[in-house]
Amino acid sequence: MRSRLMFWFYHPKTLYHVVLGLGVCAILLMAQAFSAPPTSRPAPPTKTSRTPLFEQGQRPLRGVRPLPRPSPSSHPLSASQCLPCHRTAFDQWKTSRHAVAFTNRHFQVSLQHSPYRWCVHCHSPLPEQFNEIRSWLRDDPARSPSAKSAQSAHPPVLPKSARTAHPPVLPKSEKPQQPLHKEGVNCAVCHIRDGVILASKPPTAKALKDHPIRYEPRLQSSRFCAGCHQFNLVTALTKPASPTDIPLQDTLAEWKTSWAKAQGKTCHSCHMNKGSHFFLGAHNPKGLKRSLRIHVTLRDPQTVDVIVQSRRVGHAIPTGDPFRRLILSIFAKVGDTQAIASFTFEKIFRVKNQRWYVWKDDRIPTPTTSKIGEKRLTLKLPAPQTSIHWEFSYYYAEFQHHTFLTPSEIRLRIASGRSAYPPKGQKP
Ligand code: HEC
Ligand code: HEC
Ligand code: HEC
Ligand code: HEC
Ligand code: HEC
Repeated sequence: MRSRLMFWFYHPKTLYHVVLGLGVCAILLMAQAFSAPPTSRPAPPTKTSRTPLFEQGQRPLRGVRPLPRPSPSSHPLSASQCLPCHRTAFDQWKTSRHAVAFTNRHFQVSLQHSPYRWCVHCHSPLPEQFNEIRSWLRDDPARSPSAKSAQSAHPPVLPKSARTAHPPVLPKSEKPQQPLHKEGVNCAVCHIRDGVILASKPPTAKALKDHPIRYEPRLQSSRFCAGCHQFNLVTALTKPASPTDIPLQDTLAEWKTSWAKAQGKTCHSCHMNKGSHFFLGAHNPKGLKRSLRIHVTLRDPQTVDVIVQSRRVGHAIPTGDPFRRLILSIFAKVGDTQAIASFTFEKIFRVKNQRWYVWKDDRIPTPTTSKIGEKRLTLKLPAPQTSIHWEFSYYYAEFQHHTFLTPSEIRLRIASGRSAYPPKGQKP
């Protein structure tokens, strides 16, 4: 039942929509810019723009024009343009989820089930990227009838038939360029508007020699990230879409109530430490394991006490994609495949009288006063046990999509162990 409900989110008639109006967005962004903590840097040399940088997937990004004199070796908006002079940022970004936001298998599987413009406007947000793939999307008005059959047979990133049927006509010497949409959230998405570089500090004379730069204080604020990491459910995809007031990804709002915000830490403090472009998150097993703790004890032969904690996180866990969840499974012994009890840490949306609402939120809550987020629960076992084996895992994808993914793409085991009753050295 639940997975069917979840599927509705991605169904054309019930897809999410964004409510944040442009005006509101601009005002909020300006407010953030003015309330930014004082720095010792000089005042900005140029006026900052009021145009929102991101619009939560409502349309392709606006105002992105290439820098003057792009190199002919790659697309003018490609990350390769920056590589010769910014190798560190490039190499880090290349390993990030932003660089694979369109090509990663989780997204590809998901996009095949719901091939809509909306998804692409966040995962591959430049108009030039959109134009490369729009004919594969189900709701694109410009889509040709011939693309219809092609799409049902092939995922958008691998238009195999198209590739073999229409070989690119290029002069032999010219190397074919990597299609731009495969770069996902690339440098231009975050750093280029109106033909200039947006930078988080006023430009140096050295920087201005190589490209025009505009100082953009919004780059430093958590709201910058929220342009894609905070958005609401939509109920329709075609314009005009019916907005809901239910956040689907609520990371900014969660962060606002966190200990981290209270201590002046932004998304950047944790995810872009010292300007890093790795953007590590849930696909970083080491970091995820470090951030999560679990204690499982048999209180009596039929009662299990569980404490799950997050450490030094600035929001709930999982925070982003609603299909993500943590599952604790309890087995009578190692090697069993049938769990005798389990608990899923997740947020579930439901619809009642055609209105979406959060039915339950069992995630590890946002840590508000200390650096530790905590969830405690008690599970009853169907029959008495003197010992149990448990496994605690992070799941990345919707159940429906599991058949299309490999076991390691579906699940990461965070911890496992054995608990006995009575505990070692104790009498019942
Ligand atoms: C021909 C070399 C060159 C190219 C190509 C280039 N940059 Fe730069 N960029 C520089 C130099 C040099 C600086 C100044 C670095 C410094 O001050 O230490 C700079 C500074 C910056 C800054 C500001 C950093 C700061 O310290 O203030 C950003 C942001 C930036 N570049 C982004 C980009 C992006 C994105 C691209 C690709 C679209 C790009 N650059 C292409 C040479 C280049
Ligand atoms: C998801 C958005 C995003 C993407 C993608 C991105 N950057 Fe950045 N970049 C930022 C932000 C935000 C800052 C400012 C960090 C700060 O001030 O803490 C920044 C800072 C920089 C700086 C200044 C270095 C510093 O430490 O302040 C350079 C140079 C830069 N980026 C280049 C690039 C290049 C080149 C690419 C592509 C290979 C790229 N960025 C991709 C968001 C992004
Ligand atoms: C243009 C939209 C956009 C902007 C702006 C953006 N992101 Fe992202 N971000 C994404 C998308 C889309 C993904 C998911 C990529 C994927 O499919 O795995 C993502 C993934 C991530 C992840 C990896 C999550 C994981 O579970 O592995 C982190 C961390 C992250 N972003 C942090 C940031 C931070 C910090 C900022 C602001 C400096 C930012 N993002 C700005 C679109 C954006
Ligand atoms: C105090 C540090 C901190 C702050 C502030 C913070 N994060 Fe995180 N975030 C983490 C940690 C730790 C993880 C767990 C994964 C890891 O360790 O790499 C995480 C995970 C994530 C994930 C993937 C996890 C999931 O389960 O969906 C996303 C997406 C993300 N953060 C985005 C953001 C955004 C956007 C902001 C700002 C609104 C932000 N984070 C602020 C520490 C932080
Ligand atoms: C408003 C921006 C936005 C829109 C619109 C959007 N996404 Fe995302 N998506 C994100 C961000 C940000 C993340 C990263 C959060 C996280 O890591 O949990 C993400 C993560 C994902 C992931 C997890 C990827 C991974 O690496 O594990 C999938 C799958 C996904 N999105 C599919 C879709 C589909 C399908 C649609 C359209 C129905 C869509 N998204 C629409 C911003 C968006």
